[in-house]
Amino acid sequence: MSNMQLDLDAIEALNRRLIRAMDYEKGRGGPPDGFPALPEIPGGRYTDPAFLEAEWQALWKRSWLYACHADELANPGDYMLWKNTGSPILIVRGEDGVIRAFYNTCRHRGAPVVMDDAGNARGLVCSYHGWTYNLQGELLNLRDRRDFVDLDMSCRSLIPVRCEQLGKWVFVSEDPEIEPLLDYLGPLVPQLMQFQPDRMRFVEKHGFDIACNVKVMMDAFLETYHVKSIHQHTVDRFIDSRGTAIMLWDNGHSLMCTPNRREGWRDPGTVGLKHMDTVTDVPRIHNLSFNVYPNLISPPHASGVPILTFWPTGPNTMRVECHWFSPDWGDGPIPEVWHTRIANFDRILFEDTQFAPFIQQSTESPGFEGVLLSYQERRIYHWHEELDRRIRAAGVAVPEELMIEPMMGPWRDGAKQPAE
Ligand code: FES
Ligand SMILES: [Fe+2]
Repeated sequence: MSNMQLDLDAIEALNRRLIRAMDYEKGRGGPPDGFPALPEIPGGRYTDPAFLEAEWQALWKRSWLYACHADELANPGDYMLWKNTGSPILIVRGEDGVIRAFYNTCRHRGAPVVMDDAGNARGLVCSYHGWTYNLQGELLNLRDRRDFVDLDMSCRSLIPVRCEQLGKWVFVSEDPEIEPLLDYLGPLVPQLMQFQPDRMRFVEKHGFDIACNVKVMMDAFLETYHVKSIHQHTVDRFIDSRGTAIMLWDNGHSLMCTPNRREGWRDPGTVGLKHMDTVTDVPRIHNLSFNVYPNLISPPHASGVPILTFWPTGPNTMRVECHWFSPDWGDGPIPEVWHTRIANFDRILFEDTQFAPFIQQSTESPGFEGVLLSYQERRIYHWHEELDRRIRAAGVAVPEELMIEPMMGPWRDGAKQPAE
């Protein structure tokens, strides 16, 4: 991946569209001609057990999902246990340097192959009866093999989980048939590559739990309509949310790009930090926010990139994980200013999350019928539309009244854009 060339044509073509779209958004008097009144998102999509089960099967068990950064598994034998989609998954770097994923389930009787959340191992020895696997998941040894009739050891490797990388960003999918990661990411790849996912270093990660359905929190990160209220004293002071441009792509991916209020404004928290020289003008001086469908949000900056991931932990609980990456800062610890930077970002995150438990209570109240979305919030509709497309593709049964009508097709990238 490190020798992957930047597709500057694709990057610049999008940059031009974003500039036109931001100009258009600032100047418009209402939604563009022909933009439809969006049907309400039915409230039951946040609470109905049958809908949540369908979402679990069709979305969480079948998507490419960000798992970790390759630096977290720096040496052969480094492993971590990853449980964000329920079944425990072991992600491990092999002797050959390749990072692989397996179900952490011994092929004898299902005991866990590793017990710790992270560690380093030369081989994988099940603690129950001692079956031993190599770092590629192959069964090497077992006690009293003579007592297993016709055992073909080559058929008892750990069950692999799809695991692929964009640079050092490691993604997993529990769908063995899913398309390759880079195909799934599609038009996001050239845009993300300018932020050097192949070279950036891992800084740190942390997470916190929120008492709401995961979609309540996802919705909150897909629009800038809320900026003037909940970020009045922070983000709203420097970004101009009236100018937010939106790109909607296949597979549910999308992007927002918001101009600053004052041209030439620079985030003081990033002054003095090393900046990546591959980041082009538009993302350098505006504010991007990607959604890698379904649950990854990233507002990248030339001086460092956060990835937020959102995980359902129950019908009305979820977890946010926040991962940070930086251009190489050389030897020694990460520059002190990074601690302030991450703390400031968390303060804004808190603003974003503060209403979620109360919105969750509303979704469970007779006072809540559904979610009404404006033109500015069309990215949320796009997100839900993709969920329904996947539920239908997976053939999972759901209450029909909880599905939404596809509306955003003509407003996708490649189709009509308001600015064109
Ligand atoms: S369950 Fe793993 S060795 Fe028996
Ligand atoms: Fe926000």
